[in-house]
Amino acid sequence: MMLQAESLKKGFQQGGQEILAVNDVSFSVNKGETVAIVGPSGSGKTTLLSLLAGLENSDSGQVTIDGKVITGLGEAELTRYRGEKIGIVFQQFHLMPHLTALENVSLPLDIAGEDQVRDKALKALKNVGLENRATHLPSQLSGGECQRVAIARATVIQPAVLFADEPSGNLDTETGGRVTDILFELVKTTQMTMILVTHDMELAGKCDRILSIRGGLLQNSN
Ligand SMILES: Nc1ncnc2c1ncn2[C@@H]1O[C@H](COP(=O)(O)OP(=O)(O)OP(=O)(O)O)[C@@H](O)[C@H]1O
Ligand SMILES: [Mg+2]
Repeated sequence: MMLQAESLKKGFQQGGQEILAVNDVSFSVNKGETVAIVGPSGSGKTTLLSLLAGLENSDSGQVTIDGKVITGLGEAELTRYRGEKIGIVFQQFHLMPHLTALENVSLPLDIAGEDQVRDKALKALKNVGLENRATHLPSQLSGGECQRVAIARATVIQPAVLFADEPSGNLDTETGGRVTDILFELVKTTQMTMILVTHDMELAGKCDRILSIRGGLLQNSN
């Protein structure tokens, strides 16, 4: 098993009232499995992903990734763990604007203290078809190219789990389709474990399993 979520809860105060964005969610994901999390806007998808990726703390419950309980780790240890074990692709790319494509992809390797950074980063760029855009800044790249750089950055450390939150949500249908094709190809060839948040059922259908969330509740856990 690669990931296990146990009784995860996360509430937010809204207008003096607490809403449970994630309400007692439990499920597990096998190594190499791809899982889509689907649900309407506001159903808790992004909140759940943030808990699973260790970006936010849950109110209760526990997350285990690759045999390590990440719940309750201190901020420094969690940051290091995320840097070495977790890849995240966001809807809004979140590239560093003053760094080139190659430098953006090199960053996680530099932080993890790896060797042969340039070679590994170039290979990751090649995997997303962008070896000839290495010296471009994000502002000199199209949206689809930016997201491909973000995918290269998220996968260059060969993460235990890759998380993606609406990776095509900011792109037109055709570009988004091309980017997600590249993403799935990469996941397949490297047998990566992926958790993908989307409200696109066609995209979700490419995953091994679909989990639905509504009002913070998992509809079909297993
Ligand atoms: N930081 C926050 N403070 C207060 N409420 C929040 C916060 N983050 C999320 N929420 C609330 O939690 C609920 C779930 O939000 P979340 O962003 O997880 O939904 P989502 O399923 O990702 O939606 P979308 O498809 O629109 O991205 C919503 O009601 C939202 O308003
Ligand atoms: Mg969301």
